[in-house]
Amino acid sequence: MEDKSLSYEEAITRAAGSIYRFTLSEVQGVPIMTPIAQNWRSIWAFCPDASDLLIATYPKAGTTWTQEIVDLLLHDGNAEVCKRAPTAIRIPFLEIQSPPPIPSGLDLLKSMKPPRVIKTHLPIQLVPKGFWEHKCKVIYVARNAKDNLVSYYHFDRMNQSQPEPGPWEEYVHKFIKGNVGWGSWYDHVKGYWKYREERNILYLFFEDMKENPRREVERIMRYLDLSLADDVIDKIVQLTSFKVMKDNPMANYTFIPKVVFDHSISAFMRKGEVGDWANHFTAAQSQMFDEDYAKQMADVDIPFRTTI
Ligand code: A3P
Repeated sequence: MEDKSLSYEEAITRAAGSIYRFTLSEVQGVPIMTPIAQNWRSIWAFCPDASDLLIATYPKAGTTWTQEIVDLLLHDGNAEVCKRAPTAIRIPFLEIQSPPPIPSGLDLLKSMKPPRVIKTHLPIQLVPKGFWEHKCKVIYVARNAKDNLVSYYHFDRMNQSQPEPGPWEEYVHKFIKGNVGWGSWYDHVKGYWKYREERNILYLFFEDMKENPRREVERIMRYLDLSLADDVIDKIVQLTSFKVMKDNPMANYTFIPKVVFDHSISAFMRKGEVGDWANHFTAAQSQMFDEDYAKQMADVDIPFRTTI
């Protein structure tokens, strides 16, 4: 349970001895960090309030960026208010389970009153039913598979609680097969796409956010039924640029001590670009990936872009 006298950083430091590269276990066929699978019953039983907002993503698709945009929109662009706590405390990660005294996502949510903003990486079929029953607003952010893979690879290198990524070549195959935390990228993006209209999900793309951040911030604003002044929107766009967020200690994940996030291996705010995949894939890997992609995505037409 949560010890409220400890800061998040202190809690993680205290738990350091119990943090290691967790294995993955399956929940309904989806590989997920074992502590999450072990606590699945309580996660599945979570019941949100109708006023809660869910930000859902496949890992490394632009979650933190969207969290910062949403927090600023909800606080009229007030940068100081949005530095009240690290991202992980302001917007709890629904399913995350960490060794004590680190509060779990559920612990944090229990201590907050609705309306809350909640983060999840769960594929749509594993999102607790209450979100749909209460018609909660859901923002989904998707990123093209190749850049998403590259970002996940570097994250798995630096995040000491994720399975070892292994060599790059091997990782590409693991990603294709969905043998990584939270499972198949392909199933994930397709699952939310399928239900986006029926469940009023705002489906965004990382590439659109890079191409025209103001347009996408406004899109999120309208979805949240907000109407902010033009200069406030400009300010939010600026505060959520890669450059500014990289230097914001409440948004750049340097608040997670090195025993878990080792930024000397790879920074959490690594590059924030579209097309970095081209610096990683060989021509043969790219061709193999594209051929497999065409098969796995044959049943849908989601307008992903690998360059802008
Ligand atoms: P890279 O590893 O490609 O740099 P998530 O928050 O879902 O874990 O995603 C992290 C990815 O989003 C990282 O990608 C990170 O650099 C990028 N990112 C975070 N904030 C960003 C911003 N403001 N603008 C562009 N990219 C951002």
